[in-house]
Amino acid sequence: MKKERVFIFDTTLRDGEQSPGASLNTKQKLEVAKQLQKLGVDVIEAGFPISSPGDFEAVKKIAETVKGPVIAGLTRVLKKDIDCCWQAVRPAKRPRIHTFVGTSPVHRDYILRKSEEEVLKMAVDAVKLAKSYTEDVEFSAMDATRTEFDFLCEILERTIEAGAATVNIPDTVGYAMPDEFGALIKNILEKVSNIKKVVVSVHCHDDLGLATANSISAVLNGARQVECTINGIGERAGNVSLEEIVMAIKARQDFFKYTTGIKAKNIYKTSRLVSHLTGIAVQPNKAIVGANAFAHSSGIHQDGILKKRSTFEIMSPASIGLKESKLILTSRSGRHALRHSLEELGYKLKAKELERVYQSFKKVADRKKEIFNGDLEAMVEDEISAIPETFRLEYIHTTSGSQTVPTATIRLKRGAKIIEDAACGDGPVDAAYRTIDRITGVKGKLLDYSLRAVTSGKDALGEVTVQIAGGKQTVIGRGTSTDIIEASAKAYLNAVNKLIYRRT
Ligand code: KIV
Ligand code: ZN
Repeated sequence: MKKERVFIFDTTLRDGEQSPGASLNTKQKLEVAKQLQKLGVDVIEAGFPISSPGDFEAVKKIAETVKGPVIAGLTRVLKKDIDCCWQAVRPAKRPRIHTFVGTSPVHRDYILRKSEEEVLKMAVDAVKLAKSYTEDVEFSAMDATRTEFDFLCEILERTIEAGAATVNIPDTVGYAMPDEFGALIKNILEKVSNIKKVVVSVHCHDDLGLATANSISAVLNGARQVECTINGIGERAGNVSLEEIVMAIKARQDFFKYTTGIKAKNIYKTSRLVSHLTGIAVQPNKAIVGANAFAHSSGIHQDGILKKRSTFEIMSPASIGLKESKLILTSRSGRHALRHSLEELGYKLKAKELERVYQSFKKVADRKKEIFNGDLEAMVEDEISAIPETFRLEYIHTTSGSQTVPTATIRLKRGAKIIEDAACGDGPVDAAYRTIDRITGVKGKLLDYSLRAVTSGKDALGEVTVQIAGGKQTVIGRGTSTDIIEASAKAYLNAVNKLIYRRT
């Protein structure tokens, strides 16, 4: 039996990028878009062009460069937004204009201050204008799940009449229950007279942890496009995660009559890339891509897995491209072996980048006898940054103990200049952060700090992720080292460099 296709609309670069601290520059967005193309998504929502010159530039660059998926830009139902969006997406082979308006009473009364008739007219006019630019127009009724059913059906019918090719039903505030959301989709399909002409899409947020269940319920009731993000990043509790939707459909082919165009083997790499570039760590128990998603800890489980993997695994780690963390290099390995190992992991580095990773590898290999592929991935992510390194850590020395005032001495490099300073703090990490503040002149307020071991063993690389606020900006930084104080300093400096970059 031929399975029906569910289209995957990825909004990592638009809704996902709205996660606090997650903002990406154009180069990083392009890197993510290229990876999404390799992953096989049907639509890339590349940004919201009118929202900033940077967003416009990124959407345009992606439209010019990334071939294959539809490239969409978001707009309000305003002429200036739609004109601007068209200029950004028009270089794409398959451009889409995605226009939205809040339809629920609370949005109409408090944000828009418009009547139903006025909202209806704005939506229809917007779709008509977008349609004058491109055949591929999507209309979203924002906060659809809190909109009166009759009004929702009316606005969908009228925007389809005006030329929308896709209509999207967002659960903007993650309010719906799975059965209720499925029934809403079913009722829309029954009530809206021209609905068969278009693709019905859903866009679920995860405020109650129900985004995946709601999206699946919608698909079972007739939705054929799911809007999602890598790792489920997005506003507040996030959007539905692409990997959960795709792997649910793939792992339960006995249950679903549907398929997607996603090359699942690229999921893990895409997840790592998005986590690395946004600085948003994936929670260890996250379905599909979390560090523990395929880890078996209890004796009974381990015994079962050794006897037959299907006792406790419903999909293989290899199906998402997750390779076992194998021992691949030692301190005696040279540049050639390093390049070979990196290529096996899918990294093709330029000569300069390879040299940086090699220098980092030598340092780590001196402290840690065996280098696993997880270590190499962390080193590449640490060394190859799309953000200019205004300050680079050259040296760190800290003293601490129950009878000592914790002190840090740090040497940073700025261009050819070396700057050294020292400070005391509540502990060695605090002392290091105060020293970095003194040298860089950037006062970061630490909002969050987390540490994880990249691979197992006492000599494992530690990866530190920090979130800092500087003025109105919030950024995330990451650093790795076998020494957790050094990893902490690198993470903080990475965040400080981001703040400096944003201010220029
Ligand atoms: O959550 C939402 O409603 C949105 C729309 C703009 C589609 O992100
Ligand atoms: Zn959204």
